[in-house]
Amino acid sequence: MKHLFQPGTDTNAPVLLLLHGTGGTEHDLLPLAQLLSPSSPVLSVRGNVLEKRMPRFFRRLAEGIFDEEDLKFRTKELYDFIAEASETYGFSRDNVVAAGYSNGANIAGSLLFHYADALRGAVLHHPMVPLRGLALPDLTNVPIFIGAGTNDPICSAIESEELTYLLQGAGASVTVHWEGNGHRLSSSEVQRAAEWFKAAF
Ligand code: MLT
Repeated sequence: MKHLFQPGTDTNAPVLLLLHGTGGTEHDLLPLAQLLSPSSPVLSVRGNVLEKRMPRFFRRLAEGIFDEEDLKFRTKELYDFIAEASETYGFSRDNVVAAGYSNGANIAGSLLFHYADALRGAVLHHPMVPLRGLALPDLTNVPIFIGAGTNDPICSAIESEELTYLLQGAGASVTVHWEGNGHRLSSSEVQRAAEWFKAAF
């Protein structure tokens, strides 16, 4: 997958897996990584799917309606890519924390829904429920931050609550931070995520 890797200054800090929103690139969330964990190695990946020339991590049929077969295929593709990158760059596969926004948060959510060992933790900015009807793996000891919007037109407050409930049901320790800025990733939300990150890892 197209990506960039930055080695960081602390090889023991969690490796940040950055996952951009629709139409983004692997460069978009680098400032977020600096705020969350400035000393961390960073693996920032570009989604392999194009929607009208906009990169994404999986296909969708319409806004908020996902192509589930493609989502499952792309989730495994990303899972395998992280393992491959850990060998290429020499980081520990079990020390990866995702930070994603919107479509990137959704593929991170799908990694959590499919694999117990994909992520050590996750920062999900404006995620949706990636899939329904799945038995989730055991996510005990996986800390997850969800940045949600009370007035997010893409991910409703009810869906944010449903996602929280599903992840908690799998044993994850979930912190939800609410904002009233629609689907936007605001600086106050990022600041709260950074505070959470420092306490969690
Ligand atoms: C998605 O397709 O993942 C969600 O609708 C969020 C978005 O990318 O707009």
